[in-house]
Amino acid sequence: MDLQRIVEETWNELADERGSGNPARYIPALALVDPRKFGIALATREGEVFCAGDADEQFSIQSISKVFALALALERHGPGLWEAVGREPSGDPFNSIVQLEREKGIPRNPFINSGAIVTTDRFVDDRTPEQAVGDLMSRLRRMGRDESINFDEDVARSESETGSRNRSLAYFLADFGRLMNPVEDVLSVYFRQCALAMSCRQLAESSLFLPFDGTDPVTGQEMCSPSRSRRINALMLLCGHYDNSGQFAFEVGVPGKSGVGGGILASVPGRASIAVWSPGLNRAGTSMLGAKALSSIALKTGWSVF
Ligand code: DON
Repeated sequence: MDLQRIVEETWNELADERGSGNPARYIPALALVDPRKFGIALATREGEVFCAGDADEQFSIQSISKVFALALALERHGPGLWEAVGREPSGDPFNSIVQLEREKGIPRNPFINSGAIVTTDRFVDDRTPEQAVGDLMSRLRRMGRDESINFDEDVARSESETGSRNRSLAYFLADFGRLMNPVEDVLSVYFRQCALAMSCRQLAESSLFLPFDGTDPVTGQEMCSPSRSRRINALMLLCGHYDNSGQFAFEVGVPGKSGVGGGILASVPGRASIAVWSPGLNRAGTSMLGAKALSSIALKTGWSVF
């Protein structure tokens, strides 16, 4: 299969639709990004990366970071993490608070914001926010084989300044006694984690552990056990796009995780890791063109898991 041709063809077919969807505006710094950006990177077991468009330009990975935070929180706490966060789709938007009161501060899954705040809290564990951020950065730099990976301070500040919804979620969680650390410490890590700037190429390369049983097949670095990576993939498939997860599974058919920066990370078990980026979003915060690109690649390769 000529994967470079498939990636380029997909980019060319969709190029006229660049700018479709609505870039996130509730984080003011994200509204400054050129809406016509469009990149694709597909990384394989053999260490090849097939790219098209703006695949080497860094963007704000936002909620895609929740996948890394989950893997790292599981590493620190093991299955005990599941006492604090569930594993079911929520059927509600990513920043919804309604289930949290009824379900006594146990978020439905680690990808909605409330669940991710708990996951980040457990990743911080007994460390200072600075130590946790330092650890996150060094892990990602190692996995992405790139020392330049960092978070964007402007985006983190912008999100904190307008972060009333996440503060509400976090204080609500704290009131139920669900956080180990002070709310503002947890949020300061969460905002920086969401503000990680990575390119499609860096994202695809650093997440190869997902489709390949927890170990990067190129570097041999182990991120998690095979059963844990299978479970993270399962959660991505069922919860990775919030109230749009069914539609994404229907159209694309592989585990994926969206971010309001317009990136989507897709894990094709046993085959590849694919990252796409286009800032315009649908109503659930999934990149519109990104989802179309992944749907087209899944069709051309026959890689749907179904
Ligand atoms: O917490 C937030 O609202 C953002 N930092 C992340 C939300 C997000 O990316 C939703 N995903 N599509």
